[in-house]
Amino acid sequence: MTAVVTFNNVTFKPGEDALLNDVSFEIGQNEMIRIEGPSGSGKSTLLKLISSLIPRTSGDILFEGKTIEEVGYQDYRKAVSYVAQNPHLFGQTIRDNFELVFAAHETDFDEAQVLNFMNQFGLSHIELDKSIHKISGGEKQRVGLIRHLLFPPKVLLLDEITSSLDEENRNRVWEILLEYKKQHKVTILWVSHIEDNEIFPDRIFKINNRALTIEKGEAND
Ligand SMILES: Nc1ncnc2c1ncn2[C@@H]1O[C@H](COP(=O)(O)OP(=O)(O)OP(=O)(O)O)[C@@H](O)[C@H]1O
Ligand SMILES: [Mg+2]
Repeated sequence: MTAVVTFNNVTFKPGEDALLNDVSFEIGQNEMIRIEGPSGSGKSTLLKLISSLIPRTSGDILFEGKTIEEVGYQDYRKAVSYVAQNPHLFGQTIRDNFELVFAAHETDFDEAQVLNFMNQFGLSHIELDKSIHKISGGEKQRVGLIRHLLFPPKVLLLDEITSSLDEENRNRVWEILLEYKKQHKVTILWVSHIEDNEIFPDRIFKINNRALTIEKGEAND
């Protein structure tokens, strides 16, 4: 297994107590990993640490064998992309959100590509110039997700991204994600409280009492 991301003895201790203590693992290219643990156990914290949205207290994070400092935090976060449950949309319109992503990648805005994703995700009824304040929670989740798919990352960290969706749309999102994964060889780590019927992980990361245990997933049974 070629490791994309490596955690060496990473601890996150925001106050008196460690939230995650001395965690080590390697994440391989093209892997599917489900994160499990009770509410408040630190699943979101783990994903945010992996994407380096919050700073570790100690330990090392490597990307393809280089330290995160060598890679640079901005480039690292583009490659290891965290998709939040309740994404914060920017600016005034849906278009603003996509334009910002292209600008961050110093690339011209590709409206056709954006509209293609909007179509696939069942959002063709939404004009790009619609106000971000006038879309539903489930629509917002999908716009938030598309932002992370426009430039394929190496690792996608999905934090309960289908929580506001009905079954049909949930299935549709996973169908697109699995096809996308096949095409771009993306590693996926995901947290979900809802049964993802047909989504089988290679490994399961279980968080309990500040520690992480790793189990083989259903994909290998
Ligand atoms: N930056 C932080 N500083 C201090 N405490 C934090 C920080 N972030 C999260 N916490 C606390 O850490 C614990 C884990 O939070 P986290 O959001 O990671 O849990 P979770 O497993 O994702 O829960 P849920 O299933 O409810 O989303 C919680 O008790 C939370 O209040
Ligand atoms: Mg969470």
